[in-house]
Amino acid sequence: MCNVRSLFVVCSGVVCLCNFVYQSHVRFRVIALNSLCFVTPNYSAITSRCNLWRNFDDIQDSWASVESIIDYYGDNQDVIAANAAPGHWNDPDMLIIGNFGLSYEQSKVQMAIWAILAAPLLMSVDLRTIRPEYKAILQNKKIIAIDQDKLGIQGRRIYKHKGIEIWARPVTPIFENYFSYALAFVNRRTDGTPSDVAVALHEMGLLSPTGYRIQDLYEDVDYGVLSPQTKIKVKVNPTGVVILKADVQQNLIKQNFYKPYNPFTQVYPLRTINDFVKK
Ligand SMILES: *[C@@H]1O[C@H](CO)[C@@H](O)[C@H](O)[C@H]1NC(C)=O
Repeated sequence: MCNVRSLFVVCSGVVCLCNFVYQSHVRFRVIALNSLCFVTPNYSAITSRCNLWRNFDDIQDSWASVESIIDYYGDNQDVIAANAAPGHWNDPDMLIIGNFGLSYEQSKVQMAIWAILAAPLLMSVDLRTIRPEYKAILQNKKIIAIDQDKLGIQGRRIYKHKGIEIWARPVTPIFENYFSYALAFVNRRTDGTPSDVAVALHEMGLLSPTGYRIQDLYEDVDYGVLSPQTKIKVKVNPTGVVILKADVQQNLIKQNFYKPYNPFTQVYPLRTINDFVKK
């Protein structure tokens, strides 16, 4: 935890600090650009010199702290997200998964959103005592692969209403001009029951006429190949998350290899490309 004076010094001297780090060939250095700063960071200067910088308050071991970081990144994404790319990254601070402050569901939220944000996944847990279910979250290879996607595009909050948020991150593979996506459905509500979220793929910007193969990244569920018109429905636990990967299909024929299956999903018939061209 920093006191205000040291934060101010760090912030006002951020470019000099980064310069020093760069010239001394240290590969990574985290600079705190704290919300208590009275200066607007010059991101073009920072991205040209730093590999990694922190944008907001120190994380505390609590859900409230994780929420405040998620809100900060969502509310300021127009300024923040564009600065992330291979070689220079935003850092929302370390993972607190496996410590004391987060429930199991909340831990899944932090892992999912940090992957959407293309954040460094720095653990802070005591590996001697971590419980297996928390270890499994940290070792989730599919979500780590989202975090490490080679395009390095930081995801964004694309929907926020009544405690429900949808976050989307474009990832590989790409087909023609269409990205694949990681999609995180976050339930911030605390009313004690899961919330249903129903949305058509095209409403989230998934428009490829070849369709998308949809898989859940925490649960072993394969939704099959769905067209952009298909409405998916997910059940999201209170202060929890469902994170999906939508892999754009490489051609129209391939989609027939997969049979759509999911008990929670209404599956509409797949369309041909002509259905979309007519519209
Ligand atoms: C930000 O930094 C860049 C590169 O160092 C510089 O050219 C530019 O003038 C700075 N912008 C502001 C508003 O200080």
